[in-house]
Amino acid sequence: MSTRPPMSVPIARTSLTEAEVQSVLGPLRSGWLVQGPKVREFEDKWSAFTGAEHSIAVTSCTTALHLSLAALRLQPDDEVIVPAFTWVATANVVEHLGGKVVFCDIDLNTFNIDAEELKKKITPRTKAILPVHLFGLAADMGAISQIAKEYGLWVVEDAACGFGSRYHDKHVGTLGDTGCFSFHPRKAITTGEGGMITTNSSELAEKLRRLRDHGAAMSDLQRHTGARPYLLADHPDAGYNQRMTDLQAALGAAQMDRATDIITERQSLAKIYDEAFKDLDWLKVPAKVDGLEHGYQSYPCLFEPARVRAAVEARDVAELKSINETRNAWMDDLQKAGISTRPATHAVHMLSFYRQKYRLKPEDFPNAFAANDCSISLPLFHGMTDSERQYVISVVRGSRP
Ligand SMILES: Cc1ncc(COP(=O)(O)O)c(C=O)c1O
Repeated sequence: MSTRPPMSVPIARTSLTEAEVQSVLGPLRSGWLVQGPKVREFEDKWSAFTGAEHSIAVTSCTTALHLSLAALRLQPDDEVIVPAFTWVATANVVEHLGGKVVFCDIDLNTFNIDAEELKKKITPRTKAILPVHLFGLAADMGAISQIAKEYGLWVVEDAACGFGSRYHDKHVGTLGDTGCFSFHPRKAITTGEGGMITTNSSELAEKLRRLRDHGAAMSDLQRHTGARPYLLADHPDAGYNQRMTDLQAALGAAQMDRATDIITERQSLAKIYDEAFKDLDWLKVPAKVDGLEHGYQSYPCLFEPARVRAAVEARDVAELKSINETRNAWMDDLQKAGISTRPATHAVHMLSFYRQKYRLKPEDFPNAFAANDCSISLPLFHGMTDSERQYVISVVRGSRP
């Protein structure tokens, strides 16, 4: 007979204030449900918080990445360099436009793209780099921007997890040609589904605004508040419908009023975990890098780091598989104790579509493979209670498999 755990802690939990819930009633009562004044307000608040010159709200981070590459005019067979350890969407958008995904291995310390490896992937067909600020830690943007400049490449930042993440005082998403954010419920700010593109280029911003809205030269809001609302806009581009609704933006805009509190709370939770686990040599907590401010979209750890590094060094796939089995057994124990965990994310080159299309083996990107099999994210979310946090700490500390 199974016993119920004393507490159940999810990997993430959406926490909204009453004011945020109430704010969604605004568009419902006004009747303006589609992209309108609330989207504009959310975009303005996003620009103010990140320091980006332009923010363009869309339906998801995936569509933000897709629109960015479309606006930059990615052509079929153009190559785009993507880290091998990221959410599959980062690579999928390249496929959607007929481009070729060129995977690059990661640094196992940060889980982010390895800038040294990146340089080796450049060919005459390379058009863009898609660095990911994974889990809220900025990628090595100094090195990446330098490489991009040297080879004339675009940089589209995948900042899906990057809210509150800074690279030497600059918010991520403001360092490349565009930055793309996600508002999925596992992110610090959520609109259910949703995304935001940031850019400092007025030309790109204009193009992105058109492309998200069927290619229209003028938005519905501009037309309705302009002198001749009865005339339809011209459509200079064959665009898409990737507009965020005002219902979603009302929720996002309201959460932006406590953006700093949300980030501070997540950072202080991470600090408590860091302190609680610092003596565990079998669990490596998220990296801290000078000059980078972590936004802690999640709390990704590496299980048995010394064994993992030795196995990667020796290209010992069997040893990595053995560590993976122990990690999975540990995740099972934690689940039985009521604590939800996840692998930090997946190695995209190991997913069957990419493995088969590009004929890849797991060990082609050994660090991504190791991160796939040996990482574990612990519950971390704003609104987490003291007792939930203490429970996670005591169970993790007492449950080495
Ligand atoms: C690194 C990364 N890129 C892209 C995405 C896609 O975001 P969305 O679900 O908003 O399309 C995610 C989602 O988790 C992600 O983690």
